[in-house]
Amino acid sequence: MKAIVQSEYGQADDVLHFEQADAPEVGDDDVLLQVHAAGVDRGTWHIMTGLPYPIRVAGFGLRKPKYLNPGRSLAGTVQAVGKNVTTLHPGDEVYGIGDATFAEYACARARKLAPKPKNLTFEQAAAVPISALTALQALRDHGSVQQGQAVLITGASGGVGTFAVQIAKAFGAKVTGVCSTPKVDMVRALGADHVIDYTQTDLANGESRYDVVIDIGGNRSLHDLRHVLTPRGTLVITGGETDGRWLGGSDRQVRALMLSPFVSQKLGTFVCSENSDDLLELTELIESGKVTPVIDRAFPLTEAPAAIRYLQAGHARGKVVIAVSGHVPVT
Ligand SMILES: NC(=O)c1ccc[n+]([C@@H]2O[C@H](COP(=O)([O-])OP(=O)(O)OC[C@H]3O[C@@H](n4cnc5c(N)ncnc54)[C@H](OP(=O)(O)O)[C@@H]3O)[C@@H](O)[C@H]2O)c1
Repeated sequence: MKAIVQSEYGQADDVLHFEQADAPEVGDDDVLLQVHAAGVDRGTWHIMTGLPYPIRVAGFGLRKPKYLNPGRSLAGTVQAVGKNVTTLHPGDEVYGIGDATFAEYACARARKLAPKPKNLTFEQAAAVPISALTALQALRDHGSVQQGQAVLITGASGGVGTFAVQIAKAFGAKVTGVCSTPKVDMVRALGADHVIDYTQTDLANGESRYDVVIDIGGNRSLHDLRHVLTPRGTLVITGGETDGRWLGGSDRQVRALMLSPFVSQKLGTFVCSENSDDLLELTELIESGKVTPVIDRAFPLTEAPAAIRYLQAGHARGKVVIAVSGHVPVT
């Protein structure tokens, strides 16, 4: 098969090569997929560089990458299933999370896949898995967002944020998104009731207070984020990029967890759970028209390094995807 192949940690142009490779063998609990499209997200860069270092201990390879390439989100067609897999069959169109998905074929655990939403192309579907799961779990499980609550979403214009704005609206929240000037109209069009342009307005100086803050981008201090929360509000630190090689910006998360038991606000963080039940919930939201992936750009497989560089530059509108088998029409 044709694939992106990576044998050492490093930057995209240095370590990712477009080559012929052996197709993966399907394990007993696995599904072999023909990949039509793969998603790129911030995690792609972390897995590719092995930074921050804890990601290596988390199973991606201590000294060199464990997988053929750093791709994970995907949409494709089932080719074969392992002997323990009963829920999926050859020919099924699915989306979810697999291993080394920047390739014509990839394996995935059946429990990390779900039927592809019928109203999405494969490219749109590949944009969903990790980013939308993160947004859903931040709002539903960690923010416990209720109808009518005021929710602030930083990084509202990015991969996770564009899903978070739409899902929060679907939950009946009053949503304020934070983004840069060129993306204000887009975030409003996604359904945000208010948009704060962080280049013009410092949210920490405003009068507004929020029941839930989903902090996805911008690395605002814990002090500022707590300042805009109601006294019993909930802060969910979802992301925030720094170039720290050891903590990678997660020092805010550590301090939030340590402080939370001693204050009236709930301060927390989480790691996205990759599971098919939540993908099914996303499918419902997507097929009912409440959530639609925002795709900034689709790159061909040969240009995977450019796709990662583009996302890493930090100003994509929504999601970046890789079209592995060309542009596949809506089915
Ligand atoms: N907890 C988890 O399990 C989990 C899962 C997935 C992702 N994440 C993390 O979530 C974070 C976001 O991921 P992503 O895929 O959404 O990245 P992304 O697509 O690059 O989006 C981040 C957004 O942050 C915005 N931003 C930059 N500076 C900002 C500021 N000062 N205030 C508000 N927004 C600002 C950027 O938009 P503008 O151009 O408008 O500034 C950008 O669109 C990353 O740190 C990622 O590692 C965590």
